Amino acid sequence: MADDATRSPLVPRARALTLQVLACDRVRADHSAGVAARALALSPTVPAADRDTLVAAAWLHDIGYAAELNETGFHPLDGARYLRDHGWPARVCDLVAHHSGARFVAEVTGLGEQLSRFGFVEDAVSDALTVADQTTGPHGEALSLDGRLREKRDRHGADSPTVRACPQRDPYLRAAADRVEQRLRLQ
Ligand SMILES: [Fe+2]
Repeated sequence: MADDATRSPLVPRARALTLQVLACDRVRADHSAGVAARALALSPTVPAADRDTLVAAAWLHDIGYAAELNETGFHPLDGARYLRDHGWPARVCDLVAHHSGARFVAEVTGLGEQLSRFGFVEDAVSDALTVADQTTGPHGEALSLDGRLREKRDRHGADSPTVRACPQRDPYLRAAADRVEQRLRLQ
């Protein structure tokens, strides 16, 4: 369970890299810590063997925002490329690439083909990561999914790729939240 995840070397490594890469971005580091804590809380919804992968990906999901990792300007892709190039497990790279419905935003920005080089699997782990991110605010605080979607619209602005992708992405986010809720009820 939760303790298994925190005992894995993968999670401390992910935490250390995130705090190092985001050392100059305290707000995103706090958000990442909040998402990791939320992922740990949701970890009973995924197979035990996947819990360390889930929590590690939660720590790492936004490292692509770091200036030193910026290649395409699309943080899920930049983060995943960095992790792949530094030998992280493929599943972690794929989860970072596709967290929170990144593929819908990539289509808007013309990066869909590049992002598709990372595999997307819709399963309990990708659902839990996405829901952890979408129920954690920019400072690491807990938010409802609706609150988070509102917050993103206000922060990014109507013309941003994030908001332009909402008609395609939001139904996926809501469906993932419903699936995680069902899995929690079965615990
Ligand atoms: Fe995030």
